[in-house]
Amino acid sequence: MTKSHGDEGEAVQHELTDLQTDRPHPARIYDYWLGGKDNFPPDRKAAEHAISVSADIPAAARENRAFLQRAVRMIAGTGIRQFVDIGAGLPSPGNVHEVAQSVDPDSRVVYVDNDPIVLTHGRALLADNRSTTVFTGDVRKLDELFDHPELQALVDFEQPVAVLLVAVLHFVSDEEAHRAVRQVLERVPAGSYLVLSNSTHEGNPERAAEAAKTWDKTETPIRLRTRDQVAAFFEGWELLEPGVEFVPLWRPDGSTDGTTRWMYAAVGRKA
Ligand SMILES: C[S@@+](CC[C@H](N)C(=O)[O-])C[C@H]1O[C@@H](n2cnc3c(N)ncnc32)[C@H](O)[C@@H]1O
Repeated sequence: MTKSHGDEGEAVQHELTDLQTDRPHPARIYDYWLGGKDNFPPDRKAAEHAISVSADIPAAARENRAFLQRAVRMIAGTGIRQFVDIGAGLPSPGNVHEVAQSVDPDSRVVYVDNDPIVLTHGRALLADNRSTTVFTGDVRKLDELFDHPELQALVDFEQPVAVLLVAVLHFVSDEEAHRAVRQVLERVPAGSYLVLSNSTHEGNPERAAEAAKTWDKTETPIRLRTRDQVAAFFEGWELLEPGVEFVPLWRPDGSTDGTTRWMYAAVGRKA
């Protein structure tokens, strides 16, 4: 599989999947901020726009990734052995299965994303890992996604499961996001976890509107949400300490410098 894409927009063959490389996509914009190579000129242009507004946006992406890893480690430490990562993004160091399987090699991880590039790269990464799978699905069709045979084959709903909606709900409307978290709550057993982060304007009120234009040419605008709006996603869940916090302030462990204020993070547990 090709891992690098040139500046001239050369036709890169990704199996037979139409990757729509003529327009920016969230997974690839994020990949660029994380220093990855799985992005194309329109993605880089959008990502650079954000950086021109605020140079700390790539750091915010790294801190979001670090939050995801802290949350998975904490949850694995409580004994959870099944993880469903929705809006998983392109593989990057410290993927969910790497963190979870470092705690217990038998941990099972399901990756889902609506960008087909995630499937092609994920399959290559996970080819010889029997406890993981990746398929294409949409958080707006949560039930369909939970009923998917590949998820059903790996996840035992008699046991608690951690569902990750990290940096993805801001790509769907309030109604769609609330329906998704409600459906997760209905489908998982007691003792399960919900891990979530969402972009916000509250930490950078002057620059947020301009930074949000990064997503103008993608399929969906970004929904910046307040702390209270993020907290509302946890209705019916027990919100763990410290509640909804800026990403680097959610149980910091010193692995990042923790200065960005572009996203809120929270973890809930089903009582
Ligand atoms: C900013 S990345 C976050 C990746 C990863 N969750 C993380 O936090 O490191 C957002 C991901 O959500 C995916 N995405 C956007 N809308 C989606 C939807 N409606 N359903 C599923 N995935 C979606 C994008 O393709 C992208 O890979």
